[in-house]
Amino acid sequence: MKGVILAGGTGSRLHPLTRITNKHLLPLYDRPMVTYAVEALVGAGIDEVMLVTGGTHAGEFFRLLGNGHEHGLDRLLYAYQDQAGGIAEAFGLAERFVARDKVCVLLADNVFERSLRPVVENFSRQSSGARIVLSQVGEDEHLRHLGVARMDGDSVVEIVEKPASPPSRYAVTGAYFYDAQVWDVLPTLEPSGRGELEITDVNNWYVSRGMMEADVADGFWGDAGESIDAYYAVNDFVRSNGVNR
Ligand code: DAU
Repeated sequence: MKGVILAGGTGSRLHPLTRITNKHLLPLYDRPMVTYAVEALVGAGIDEVMLVTGGTHAGEFFRLLGNGHEHGLDRLLYAYQDQAGGIAEAFGLAERFVARDKVCVLLADNVFERSLRPVVENFSRQSSGARIVLSQVGEDEHLRHLGVARMDGDSVVEIVEKPASPPSRYAVTGAYFYDAQVWDVLPTLEPSGRGELEITDVNNWYVSRGMMEADVADGFWGDAGESIDAYYAVNDFVRSNGVNR
């Protein structure tokens, strides 16, 4: 299975910090944010990765990660996203690298307390389709900033992006798993109201065909890019407890 880490975007919710650097290079406790995503993939057994980034600080990722060997990667490639056209657009840049293998896409601002290895193993056993990781979130205000799954028992029946009225407590985290059909879905996407190609549209393509499976994350999950308060909450958790365990 290949890995794709998405570290582009504008990081506008963390301005002015992100005027002088890329969000995913900001520190979480004792190291840059993106290194937790690399560690998450390596810990889950994925050692061929493409990192997608953009903007004016892209060169710093080379300086930090180099060829990836020091971080446990066998192969690390890079792609440059010209404009922040959305998560699905950024992922599309990895098409030739992924070469129709199974793929795990990880948003570089997402931090998981527990290893993603069990999810990777579940997806390896899955014959086709896609897989997402859900996390239970208590506050409606928090859910309104995320993708949220509408559930029927244990099945996801729809994902609603940034819902005014959250259909469940299950947030969709930024760890996505796809088979090769995803390369037929991406060209069909239309920009959303915020002018981006949405990963939620890709996921709903699989959901509506009964081809989406989901795991619920054990332990803490955080999106450090959501707001300055979320950034500090994730930072505090990482410092006190460690992650990717
Ligand atoms: O963190 C989980 C959430 O991530 C999900 O619950 C949502 O369904 C999903 O849409 C996404 O929401 P965000 O609003 O947090 O996405 P954001 O625009 O912050 O982008 C998340 C990451 O994706 C960001 O850290 C870098 C990468 N990205 C984003 C954009 C827009 C890119 O690499 N390129 C892009 O153009």
